[in-house]
Amino acid sequence: QTGKFTYDPGFLSTASCNSTITYIDGDKGELLYRGYPIEQLAVNCDYLDTCYLLLYGELPNTEQRGTFHSRVINHTMVNEQMQFFLRGFRRDAHPMAVLTGLVGALSAFYHDSTDINNPEHREIAAIRLIAKMPTLVAMAYKYTVGQPYIYPKNDLSYAGNFMRMMFATPCEEYKVNPVIERALDRIFILHADHEQNASTSTVRLCGSSGTNPFAAIAAGVACLWGPSHGGANEACLNMLGDIQKMGGVAKVGEFMSQVKDKNSGVKLMGFGHRVYKNYDPRAKLMRETCHEVLGELGLHNDPLFKLAMELEKIALEDDYFVARKLYPNVDFYSGIVQRAIGIPVSLFTAIFALARTVGWIAQLNEMIADPEYKIGRPRQLFVGAEKRDVKPLAER
Ligand code: SDX
Repeated sequence: QTGKFTYDPGFLSTASCNSTITYIDGDKGELLYRGYPIEQLAVNCDYLDTCYLLLYGELPNTEQRGTFHSRVINHTMVNEQMQFFLRGFRRDAHPMAVLTGLVGALSAFYHDSTDINNPEHREIAAIRLIAKMPTLVAMAYKYTVGQPYIYPKNDLSYAGNFMRMMFATPCEEYKVNPVIERALDRIFILHADHEQNASTSTVRLCGSSGTNPFAAIAAGVACLWGPSHGGANEACLNMLGDIQKMGGVAKVGEFMSQVKDKNSGVKLMGFGHRVYKNYDPRAKLMRETCHEVLGELGLHNDPLFKLAMELEKIALEDDYFVARKLYPNVDFYSGIVQRAIGIPVSLFTAIFALARTVGWIAQLNEMIADPEYKIGRPRQLFVGAEKRDVKPLAER
């Protein structure tokens, strides 16, 4: 072994593999879902249209759109027993800890959708996961704030239903603001899939063992939680808050010096990417959405947004970042938008997981549908101790 692995179907799950779902050109900063530019999908479609596209390869026509939407809507409730599962958590549990448990627990309820090698099971599991993720995320939130769960209301949009489950109470209805509803739906679209990222590789590898779809998606939720991956939006907002406490825009130079000091371990969260060596197209769309939402809510003087724009301006002109091709990624503005629409910081990554569920499912199904796929089994290049004999204890 020279350390270079030859292509092996078992690697459909982990290393680079062929796919027809998402195309990224990291140098151009281009992102296409099934050939459609993300910029066009974010403006002309809604999240459920995008789910249909990622799952079936084409945008739905009117009839297909109606059928798909009603199938999803008819699966938004979860088994009543799930609320007893939640009771096992501490109230201050991180929503991602709760969500990882809840998603895995779904496999205990839906035996007609656990056989990953059965196309009908995969189909209904996909619908159930897309439909139930908003309900589960809202339940995880309500549990942490000690409020009763709000059941889904199926005459609302996907994003509107989620916001109502999050913020309505038995005493007070939640009126969905169309600008916020549209902004959240766009956040879902922008996070729906992203080729072979860490959590998608996790879902593919996990699913390649033949485990059930719910368990494979739960593994993706766990991986996404990391601050280098989906946890970056929460980390980015915490970073902006820390700079604000240091003194805000006046202290950006001091903060940037810490970032450039390798020993500090300080990263500019929301910047840089394993693939994009240009502006993440999602970050541009997220910044536009930020402007729209803050304008609608009369928050255009939001100090954190102004701080973020100043950070971005300085970084894009700074040789350290330019030389390393570090640009804002999807996480740089998403936290500010979510905070503006009232989402608590602790929920940001759970919302990323909600949106990415369809991408994970589409990628998993693509692998399983390939007759050549085998269980992923990456090898290691052993560089440890030479073969040797065990010495008696007295001689060690
Ligand atoms: C997501 O893969 C995906 O598609 C993921 C994702 C998706 O949709 O699934 O796009 C979602 O995870 C986006 C990334 C969110 N993470 C963050 O914003 C956390 C901050 N970013 C970094 O941790 C970092 O940029 C990574 C982990 C994202 C990428 O790290 P790499 O592979 O080291 O980046 P690189 O090779 O381009 O780094 C080049 C240099 C290195 O320094 P040198 O060794 O050359 O001196 O830039 C440095 C890195 O240390 N660097 C940073 C930095 N990111 C890279 N320095 C300061 N701040 C940063 N954010």
